[in-house]
Amino acid sequence: MRGKDAALLQVINLSKSFNSFQAVKNVSFELYPGEILGLLGPNGAGKTTIIHMLLGLTSPSSGEIRIFGLDPSKAREREKILNLMNFSSTYVAMPYSLKVREALMVFARLYGVKNARQKIDALLGQFELEEVVDRPVRALSSGQMTRLNLAKAFINDPEILLLDEPTASLDPDIADRTRKYLIEVKKKRKMAILYTSHNMQEMEEISDRLLFLHHGEIIARGTPEELISRFRGEDLEDVFLKVAREVRA
Ligand SMILES: Nc1ncnc2c1ncn2[C@@H]1O[C@H](COP(=O)(O)OP(=O)(O)OP(=O)(O)O)[C@@H](O)[C@H]1O
Ligand SMILES: [Mg+2]
Repeated sequence: MRGKDAALLQVINLSKSFNSFQAVKNVSFELYPGEILGLLGPNGAGKTTIIHMLLGLTSPSSGEIRIFGLDPSKAREREKILNLMNFSSTYVAMPYSLKVREALMVFARLYGVKNARQKIDALLGQFELEEVVDRPVRALSSGQMTRLNLAKAFINDPEILLLDEPTASLDPDIADRTRKYLIEVKKKRKMAILYTSHNMQEMEEISDRLLFLHHGEIIARGTPEELISRFRGEDLEDVFLKVAREVRA
């Protein structure tokens, strides 16, 4: 995986300030094809802000981002990036008045997806949305909305996927199936996935590597096993509690 392949995404000394508040401080990391990189840290650590900068929704105060070698802060380059990347986040504005199938069709057209109907049917099945295909998006429960967000994220068969708490409101069964699906696409299609979650068991299960953010800084990084052994935790949850409490103290 690493070593052979070039990084698809590179972040170099990235910082973001909102007025005098520094939300992200000097963050550097790379994302390789065929890996799931977990971004973890307490509420307000800067995870979503990083994802928004990667999407070009927020501009960095300093530092560099390169995705497929392109710069998302430049409109023309961002357009190319967004064709090959996708994301899921509760911040995504959905066409709320459309029915679920129509909403997915809008995204399929946006990305110029071939065989859109077939693709949408497969995604509706994968994320168990068949039951709600004819309901307006605004009527969906929060877990159903999350599933729609996931289906939308896969519509263009992205090479890079940015997932901000994708399983937060999913029931345990579909959450488990979603994790397995992510591991499968990572392996089969060499998809590169950046992932955030507050579920440490989930992070331990699916992440190849982890970045631990606190107050906008990366305070630890490594595989789940490395972090567990370095912080002498029983598991990742234990590591989180130790590290978060230590830095808060
Ligand atoms: N537009 C903004 N203006 C001012 N402060 C902001 C803005 N956006 C984010 N912040 C602040 O930046 C910090 C990082 O926020 P961010 O949403 O990135 O955290 P997070 O790690 O995603 O947290 P959570 O786990 O709660 O989702 C927070 O303290 C937040 O209040
Ligand atoms: Mg967040």
